[in-house]
Amino acid sequence: MARGDAAAARGYSAPARGAHWITAALLAVSIPLGLVMTRIEGDLKFTLYHWHEWIGFAVWWLALFRVAWRIGHPPPPRIPPLPRLQAAAAEAVHGLLYLALLAMPVVGWIGNSAFGFPLEPFGLFRLPDLVAKDEALGRVLLDLHGWAGWAVIGLLVLHVGAALHHHLVVRDLTLRRMLPQSLGGLPPG
Ligand code: HEM
Ligand code: HEM
Repeated sequence: MARGDAAAARGYSAPARGAHWITAALLAVSIPLGLVMTRIEGDLKFTLYHWHEWIGFAVWWLALFRVAWRIGHPPPPRIPPLPRLQAAAAEAVHGLLYLALLAMPVVGWIGNSAFGFPLEPFGLFRLPDLVAKDEALGRVLLDLHGWAGWAVIGLLVLHVGAALHHHLVVRDLTLRRMLPQSLGGLPPG
């Protein structure tokens, strides 16, 4: 890459970076909780369910913010641009991740309502039940949510693998578009 090109490269806005890394940190806790809570018995099981659900709600609000913010602040162009197929693959994975972050909490919420389990994020307030009690519907929705959870894990393996491949093997500026400036991130575009 020519030196002039590198100097012109810009990264995501500070709010987009902040929301990205907070989301990543929250999912690093809530996905393992989701996997463990469904496989253990005892009182701890219910505590883990609560924390999984509460953190999932926080992720949902962050995802709403991210999508709204992105509409007003599209990411700066990549310098140099990615090959077309790679750019399309990256866009597809990002789009599916946003879709999952927006849809999964809602499916979890409707599933909980159908089982009649109350949802009280962080014990602060009670969310309304979205549907009447219907355990068969609840089972279908939570099964769907569980499968979607595995799909998200697969997408994240691709996503994080691609980010590390760009940074460590190709050695381009991809990761620095998203890193905080204090850790070598590019200036916002
Ligand atoms: C664990 C949860 C994570 C989720 C849900 C997630 C999701 C996303 C999404 C939706 C985008 C697209 C942003 C946009 O264009 O609006 C994105 C961008 C990005 N993510 Fe993640 N991410 C996660 C973790 C990570 C990790 C651990 C890394 C690094 C090792 C990483 C590196 C990146 C980079 C470099 C970009 C910018 C790509 C570009 O310039 O086009 N992400 N992430
Ligand atoms: C984006 C946020 C979320 C992600 C990525 C996620 C992911 C997961 C994962 C990976 C599992 C384990 C699946 C398995 O063991 O096979 C799971 C289970 C579960 N999640 Fe979530 N979850 C999220 C948000 C929520 C929210 C907000 C709620 C409730 C309102 C919720 C309710 C549940 C329930 C009840 C289960 C157990 C399903 C069962 O009994 O089979 N999740 N989730």
